[in-house]
Amino acid sequence: MGVVASAPAKIILLGEHFVVYGEPAIVLAIDKRVYAKVEKRNDKLLYLRSANLNLAGYFENRIFKVEQGDPKEAKSKFEPVKLTVEKVLEKYGENVGLSIEINSTVPVAAGLGSSAAVVAAVTAAVGALLNVKMSKEDVLRMAYEAEKIVHGTPSGIDPAISTFGGALLFQMDTGFQPLDVNIDIPLVIGNTGIARSTRSQVEKVRNTREKYAQIMDYVLRAAREIVLRAVDALKENDLETIGELMNINHALLYGIGVSDESLEWLINAARKAGALGAKLTGGGGGGCMIALAKSEKLQPILEAIQRAGGIPFIAKKTNEGVKIESA
Ligand code: MEV
Repeated sequence: MGVVASAPAKIILLGEHFVVYGEPAIVLAIDKRVYAKVEKRNDKLLYLRSANLNLAGYFENRIFKVEQGDPKEAKSKFEPVKLTVEKVLEKYGENVGLSIEINSTVPVAAGLGSSAAVVAAVTAAVGALLNVKMSKEDVLRMAYEAEKIVHGTPSGIDPAISTFGGALLFQMDTGFQPLDVNIDIPLVIGNTGIARSTRSQVEKVRNTREKYAQIMDYVLRAAREIVLRAVDALKENDLETIGELMNINHALLYGIGVSDESLEWLINAARKAGALGAKLTGGGGGGCMIALAKSEKLQPILEAIQRAGGIPFIAKKTNEGVKIESA
């Protein structure tokens, strides 16, 4: 008997990177989820398995032993999970061994927030297994601590959307507010297949900001205006304007050096195939792009991205944040 919890992946519609410097961003949870199954053990080990990454191993007195896959990769993937589990156990005064199995359809290191979704799902599942009442704010707090280990100086946008779902207007100092989106936001996501680390992309932007502080002030201000304008466009169900704003946003991201050739190929292919707008999403430097389109254009855009060498899929917004699937 165990508990299964799930949490959604995300796309940042507008505002990634600039959000780290206090600007607003718009983020949507999408219908790809991470599932975490947690069971109690008779010993005190923390046993972890990722079915789709073919990794397995366990922590015994903080020492990691690999059972399947590359030891370094396994440790780096499991370390944040261990940290979250420790935090939950410590908070609720428990000391038990656990087996955790992660199943996911979310591409990793692709800008879709898979690490935050894993941590949110694990946190909720462990809480439910211990029979403790955890609010979504509790889950977010713990998931954010783990995110800091993976990403260095994250804004917190990934754990927030994985926890709450839906569409959020996120800002670091003022927190986040749910956006009432009454239209479909038809999106094609294109994965370049090139994995990259958010941490190094965020560092790259920090270096650019240090070197070009005054220029970056204008870039940040432009990024803020783009997001504020998009909030109005969302209220007015104006997809054309949102598409144009995505293109301007991508130009800023390109300018500060976080796009790459693989993304540019897919973005250009999507625009040529009739996208209203296209941009990278998440950390960039590889990972995924998104294209906004009228519904009838989704299929041609998907095919164009595929022809350009990407791995595309059609994504839908989901309102379901972290949740217990079975207990
Ligand atoms: C990562 O999904 C989004 C970034 O803005 C980093 C962050 O906000 O933590 C690149």
